[in-house]
Amino acid sequence: MNMVYLNGSFMPIDEARIPVLDRGFLFGDAVYEVVPVYDRHPFRLDWHLQRLQNSLDGIRLKNPMSTDAWKSLFLAMIEKHTQKNQSIYLQVTRGVAKRDQAFPMSTPPTLFMMSNPLHTPSPEDIENGVSAITSEDFRWLKCDIKSTSLLGNCLLRQLSAEQGATETILFREGQLTEASTSNVFIVKNNVLLAPVSNHLLLPGITYQVILEIAREREFELEVRDISAAETLSADEIWLTSSSKEVLAVTRLNGQPVGEGKPGRVFKRMHALFQALKREGQ
Ligand code: PDD
Repeated sequence: MNMVYLNGSFMPIDEARIPVLDRGFLFGDAVYEVVPVYDRHPFRLDWHLQRLQNSLDGIRLKNPMSTDAWKSLFLAMIEKHTQKNQSIYLQVTRGVAKRDQAFPMSTPPTLFMMSNPLHTPSPEDIENGVSAITSEDFRWLKCDIKSTSLLGNCLLRQLSAEQGATETILFREGQLTEASTSNVFIVKNNVLLAPVSNHLLLPGITYQVILEIAREREFELEVRDISAAETLSADEIWLTSSSKEVLAVTRLNGQPVGEGKPGRVFKRMHALFQALKREGQ
């Protein structure tokens, strides 16, 4: 049975209910996290909990639990599911109150958590890469907050879904930001380029792990603004997220990226990332 956690108790997912006046439902007034679990160990949980704190600070909502209480809840959730690899979703909303955009005075937050099987890329997608399209990034200016207000992301992701592509890569005023559900890296002349982490993109945990590996293993790395022109002429393009891990884009807007297959730098990074996962770090 799929057991979820809602406001203090575990229950079967079909029995979990929230009131229609929940501000998460009415306004998307909520933040969330998605944490991959490998071999029953949450991956970089401290980093996810720190990002959750930053998101809560960003929407001026008090963290309903201490770090230790969050960690215990994660372990309890993992225990309740048999899969070795899980994707744990959590959401904190500003709670239930009469509909009014201004914050309620003292309303307890709604806390929801669920576990789903973790779906990482297929061997074929790792071997061949995936396709993506590009679009203007028309989202708001606080994309560093992991908010459940994802309408912009949904509209942008749908553009690629309709074309049978895996992602929509986004440019704001001619600069690469991220993709609709993942971060983006490019490689040009063997140099790994990452966009600067600022308010225009989510500070992905996987993005941070990739930067850590790149620095430790002395990849040639530049973290800087990346233009649309550089992206469109890149030798390699990668997507990173908790479920995609690191995945090569080999077709962009119907054109091959570089040689149209996952590149040398990607293969090295992919192997290092898999090793890190196996070591349980
Ligand atoms: N999203 N950027 C956006 C817009 C995202 O939605 C995500 C992940 C990322 C990558 O972050 P991380 O490496 O921490 O997964 C970047 C997920 C997993 C989701 O919304 O389901």
